[in-house]
Amino acid sequence: MTQRKLLITGGAGFIGSNFVHTILESYEDIQVIVLDKLTYAGNLRNLAKWKDEKRFHFIKADIANKEELSLALNGIDFNEIVHFAAESHVDRSITGPEEFVKTNVLGTFYMLEIGRNLHEKGKLNVFLHVSTDEVFGSLGADGAFTESTSYAPNSPYSASKAGSDHLVRSYFHTYGMPVITTNCSNNYGPFHFPEKLIPLMILNCLQGKQLPVYGKGENIRDWLYVKDHCLAIDLAIHKGKFGETYNIGTRNEKNNLEIVELICNLMDLRHPQGAPHKKLITFVTDRPGHDFRYAIDPSKIEKELGWTPKYSFEQAIEETVDWYMNNKEWWSEILSGSYQSYYEQQYKGIG
Ligand code: NAD
Ligand code: DAU
Repeated sequence: MTQRKLLITGGAGFIGSNFVHTILESYEDIQVIVLDKLTYAGNLRNLAKWKDEKRFHFIKADIANKEELSLALNGIDFNEIVHFAAESHVDRSITGPEEFVKTNVLGTFYMLEIGRNLHEKGKLNVFLHVSTDEVFGSLGADGAFTESTSYAPNSPYSASKAGSDHLVRSYFHTYGMPVITTNCSNNYGPFHFPEKLIPLMILNCLQGKQLPVYGKGENIRDWLYVKDHCLAIDLAIHKGKFGETYNIGTRNEKNNLEIVELICNLMDLRHPQGAPHKKLITFVTDRPGHDFRYAIDPSKIEKELGWTPKYSFEQAIEETVDWYMNNKEWWSEILSGSYQSYYEQQYKGIG
């Protein structure tokens, strides 16, 4: 078998960096090339563990810039592409949708063209595209998304991801490219950028800041531990069928208020000087077009690829809280940088 050489786009972000850790820890004879623009969400600290590792290489480039991308990849040898790079935050897509269209649609198109070029030379083993359950829109009280649920994206973010999913699908049908798409639910875990619900609540508790809950906190998300997600992606690369899509989730629905209250309880034990942290909960104006409920039916990946998650929610959420408690340097640097002005703008009027 030829040596696996993975090009991982967006590998300096939250899920991408966790995936790099999973892969380099699981396989010895493997090469990993991370290609990342290092936007506000990309952070080389997430990959610091591997900086002197021979199996690891980093390239800074923008997937939405055709010339920069092809120059950056000129002469670089790889046979698998795992595509994470994207603008990922729904709230930012509401205030600034253009970057989402550029990176998520145009950038995915350019990555597919890179893949097509390799495929035509017989050198591409797989192109795995990482997508989201948000492409399916919003659920009512019942049911769950399956792979055959119709697309109905509601935010500029999810619409741009839906566009990218359709392009990926078309490269299988038109060019016979070995593509696989995974659509997963909300991830949580180490290296999660503090703009997202779970890390935001942990860090605000630690700083005695208010905990902004949109609307009444009744919206439901289906939480997936990032390490389980990374193992599922690796499984899909090995056992997935080209041209197929796989939903990834762990049947772990919680409403937002439940999540915030659980974090408050965990923080009361770890940071008693701020207890009770629940007093910090503040209901704020709802997100426009806020999807009510997401829920993944993972039966296909379970039955066809034999996937089962390794971690329980109770164990993984505690590990996540502890990771933030133990990595103050990581988040202090982010909070004192350009993120500060985003936070002030997004949460105007709350402390
Ligand atoms: P993230 O925002 O933490 O990381 C995104 C990474 O992509 C960053 O390192 C950033 O620098 C890089 N990037 C952005 N624009 C780029 C560009 N133009 N060129 C090159 N690199 C660029 O995102 P994440 O949460 O790790 O999400 C990764 C992928 O998983 C995304 O495709 C997202 O849509 C998808 N996804 C995320 C979740 C979740 O809960 N976080 C759930 C479902 C799907
Ligand atoms: O479902 C998968 C998606 O999950 C991914 O595709 C996205 O990239 C990822 O960001 C995530 O999107 P959400 O919008 O669900 O995640 P977020 O952490 O932003 O919000 C989770 C829920 O919490 C959502 O109902 C909005 C709410 N929320 C969020 C923030 C930031 C609040 O109540 N207050 C907040 O301050």
